[in-house]
This record gives sequence, C-alpha cells and structure tokens, in this order.
Amino acid sequence: MTDRKATLTFDDKTLELPIYSPTLGPDVLDIRKLYAEGDVFTHDPGFTSTSACESTITFIDGEKGELLHRGYPIDQLAADSHYLEVCYLLLYGELPTRAQMEDFESRVIRHTMLHDQMVYFYRGFRRDAHPMAIIVGVMGAMSAFYHDSTDITDPWQREVASIRLIAKMPTIVAWAYKYSIGQPFVYPNNKLDYASNFLNMCFSVPAEEYKVNPILARAMDRIFTLHADHEQNASTSTVRLASSSGANPFACIAAGAACLWGPAHGGANQACLEMLREIGSVDRIPEFIARAKDKNDPFRLMGFGHRVYKNFDPRAKVMKQSADEVLDLLGIEDNPTLQVAKELEAQAIADPYFSEKKLFPNVDFYSGIILEAMGFPTSMFTPIFALSRTVGWISQWHEQLSDPAHKIGRPRQLYTGAPHRDYVPVDQRG
Ligand code: SDX
Repeated sequence: MTDRKATLTFDDKTLELPIYSPTLGPDVLDIRKLYAEGDVFTHDPGFTSTSACESTITFIDGEKGELLHRGYPIDQLAADSHYLEVCYLLLYGELPTRAQMEDFESRVIRHTMLHDQMVYFYRGFRRDAHPMAIIVGVMGAMSAFYHDSTDITDPWQREVASIRLIAKMPTIVAWAYKYSIGQPFVYPNNKLDYASNFLNMCFSVPAEEYKVNPILARAMDRIFTLHADHEQNASTSTVRLASSSGANPFACIAAGAACLWGPAHGGANQACLEMLREIGSVDRIPEFIARAKDKNDPFRLMGFGHRVYKNFDPRAKVMKQSADEVLDLLGIEDNPTLQVAKELEAQAIADPYFSEKKLFPNVDFYSGIILEAMGFPTSMFTPIFALSRTVGWISQWHEQLSDPAHKIGRPRQLYTGAPHRDYVPVDQRG
C-alpha cells in the first residue's frame, strides 16, 4: 500500500508510521501500531483529524465546497438524476443501465408495504409523540418482523435488508406523520414514483381525490437526493460503530436515525426554520447575529457552519435555487421566512466573525423553507432527512461488512479521574 513513512520521535522512542495517499483528499498516517509499539494513544475528541475507515462511496472537499458520490458531483446528480438512481449508484458503485434501473425499481416497489402487525406498534405511541421518536422505534422494531434479512454474514440477506429499508422508509415516515395528525394511514401506491408515492401517503385522504403536484414531486425527489449520503458524518459513524459489533441492519440504521435527530446534525433543519420564524423580520437579524457571535450566549445560527465545509455547502446552493423555484411555481410571493433567510445569509457571510471562521449555510439552511411550502410541519423535517439518508447509512454499512479486515470499533481515552484507592466503609467517611 505504501513505502512512505512518517517518523514520530518522543522520549526515547522513534516510530515509523506508514503514510497512505487517497484518490482525493489529504494523506493519512496509519497509527494502528502506535499503542503496541509506542505505548501511547492519539487524542482527538470529535474526530476532527481522524480517518475512521477506508471508503469509496462519497468524497467531500470542504475547502472547494465539493461533494462527490462515487465521483459524480452532487449538483449534476440533483439536476440530471433522480433519487432511486442515486440509491443504485451509492449501493453498487456505478450508474445503472436502463435494464438495471428497471430491475432495481421493481425490487424496491415490491417492498413498500409494512407487515400489517406494525400498525399496532404505531398505536402504542401518544399522538403528540415527535415523529422521530416513532420512526426510531419502528425502524428498530423491523428486526422483529423481518427475521429473514437479519443475518449480516449472508450477502443475500444484507441485500434484502437494504432494499426493504429503502422501500419501506417512505411508508414508515408517512405513517408517523399521519399518526401524529390523527388521519388514517394511506397505503403505498406502486403505480407512483418514489417521491410521488411518499407525498401521496402524506397528503392524500380516503375521502377525496388527490393528485400529486409534479413540481412538488420533483422538488421532493431532489431533496431526497441532496441528503442521500455525506461521508463519515455523526449518524453514519454511529451506524458503522453499531454494525461493528455484528448488530442486525435494522438496529444499526435505527441507531443512525437516533443520532441524526440531534439539533447539531439532522435536527438542524427543524431548529433552523424555528429560528427563522423567531427572527420574524429582517430588522431583527442584527440582534440574532450579535447573539450568535456572543461567547456567553449558547445561541448559534442553525443551518450555518459545518465540520468539513469551509466554503459553501454545495447542497445549500441547490436547495436555495429549489426554494426560489418551488415557491415561485406555487405562487407563494414574498415568503417572509425565505426573505429573512436570504437577508440573514447575506449579513452573516459579510460579517468577519463568520467569514473568518468560514461559516456558511449548510444543507439545513434552506431545506425547511421548501418543506414548509410543501405542507410539512417542522416536526417532519428530520424524518424526511432520515428517509433520504437511509441509503447512505445502508451503503456505508454494506461497505464496512464487505471489508474482511473490519473489526469492532473500540476507542480508548485520556483518563484524568481518581488514581487507585481502597474502599472506605460508610462509618469511616467524613
Ligand atoms: C449536518 O457532518 C456532516 O456531514 C453533517 C451533515 C450531513 O449531511 O450528514 O452535513 C448534516 O449535520 C449539517 C450541520 C447542521 N447543524 C447546524 O446547522 C447546527 C449549527 N452549526 C453548528 O452547531 C456547527 O457549525 C456544527 C455542529 C455544524 C459544526 O461544529 P464544529 O465543526 O464542531 O465546529 P465548532 O463547534 O468547533 O465551531 C467552530 C467555531 C466555534 O467558535 P470558536 O469556539 O472557535 O470561537 O465556529 C463557531 C463556534 O462557536 N460556530 C458558530 C456556528 N457554528 C460554529 N457560531 C455561530 N453559529 C454557528 N452556526
């Protein structure tokens, strides 16, 4: 793999660490032998400088603001591809031929329904449960219903589990929404495309005819594509760590969804729209920018900043164009939330605090505006992110299990607690 080496010298030790060069991105130092040979750990809370795995799925160039899926730029995929084709690309590594796409689509279509017993699982939740609470529960419960695709050592069962998760997530998410608003579940209609099927399950009711608006279906499909995968983010790393113990696919993906829910990650789209609503008008923007800059104020601009992007998040650019198009096509003039978002973006990126820290809008900054215009409540924003990201989690899960060298993830620590001490009986304590 390499003949380049880094030399690490400390105390009376000199270690040679292999250096590997990737197809794209920074070189990596292989420190796997560091503890055995040097009796030291590296220390990198938050993994700001740590490569946790080798992958061929997604590459992000944070400086350039570039995102590639199997080498294809996200802006081209968002413009010219569609979500199920991107699913195929992420899962199998190449764009499908027409025949391969038809076969993949027919395999997904055959798995859109849930085991009918799962309806009772939903009924166990309060109606006011956050849809993410329901989704995390239902995804984990899938291992109780689909035993024949839980053996991770069987490539065929891994394939079936992957198709089941991609196919069933729109139904799981739509039913969580219907349950939260007290409307009856709408079953999947396999005559509809993936995005239209989801919108139909969310917004149609048995009492009336419902025709999916093709503009919204296209926008929905694009939102799915923009969220499909994103290298080793927190939720994907959670899926990889859960998978490293040999847990079944449904448990691993449910763990990823639980992690995504956090407001610093996939929960930011809901937090961002709530922030934009709280700002309310452009004249209050300076007040919120001042708060975001104030070290003593925990407030942050939601939808802004990113661990990797130190330039524009390319997904935010596409999302911003899509927001303009969708609102315009829906005839929603001067949407106040969109006006506040655009002015907030302009003022923030012109402010030295944000430009020096290289803080730009991320994928979550504009997505909520489109989803709100489509009729979704803010509580559905992260569930839609989870639906979209399921294929990314699954692809990364597959890749890890296909690596014969993979082992259980087990980080160490910098221990600064009490040194060894003997137990003190209670009547001898101070
Ligand atoms: C997603 O990883 C992925 O790929 C995630 C994701 C995906 O597709 O999977 O892209 C999806 O999670 C996007 C991010 C959504 N989260 C938000 O929008 C929440 C708001 N953003 C932040 O909390 C923050 O920017 C993070 C969590 C996204 C990134 O945090 P980092 O990389 O740990 O950076 P940091 O917290 O160390 O911040 C660096 C500096 C700090 O100031 P100093 O202590 O150096 O003085 O920038 C400041 C921060 O205070 N800062 C912000 C800010 N984000 C960072 N200040 C104000 N507003 C912000 N949003």
